[in-house]
Amino acid sequence: MPRHLAIYPGSFDPITVGHQDIVRRSLAFVDRLIIAVAHVRTQRKDALFTISERVELIRQHYADEPRVAAMEFEGLLVDFAKQQDARLIIRGLRAVSDFEYEFQMALMNHELWPDVETVFLPPAKEYSYLSASLVRQVSMLGGDVSGFVSSDIFAALSAKLAGRRA
Ligand code: PNS
Repeated sequence: MPRHLAIYPGSFDPITVGHQDIVRRSLAFVDRLIIAVAHVRTQRKDALFTISERVELIRQHYADEPRVAAMEFEGLLVDFAKQQDARLIIRGLRAVSDFEYEFQMALMNHELWPDVETVFLPPAKEYSYLSASLVRQVSMLGGDVSGFVSSDIFAALSAKLAGRRA
């Protein structure tokens, strides 16, 4: 039943409580969700976790939720979606500033594969300003990000930063 399988793509470096909120709400209307970690941003200078570490953290976080899988993908998102036979892409839309980029991506993806649809979910209002890049930046500069990531991710983040400082 491909209609009920969705892909939630992104960089997830790291997955935040905002992402987790989108996952939880998506599960209200999809049967299965693949959280797809893109290779596209691997070369970012401010990357913190490797792609495999991000996938592993997500897998561990959702170990008790059989409807959620974590995978990595390289290349076009629509090609990955086709491989998985998923015709639904989920994206969080936080603010008007996200809109243009998200709109372009949704239209391009639809152009590349007309069977695919993008569903945008607004954030819970308490997460509207939250982004993984801000979490990375604040944590690297010694700020407290414990309110922005779940405790398992916070532990991994602390270990990663301690390793970097050592
Ligand atoms: O969390 P991000 O970094 O905003 O996610 C962006 C992502 C990974 C969803 C986007 O860059 C993407 O889909 N990359 C895969 C390559 C691709 O298909 N590009 C064309 C999209 S229009």
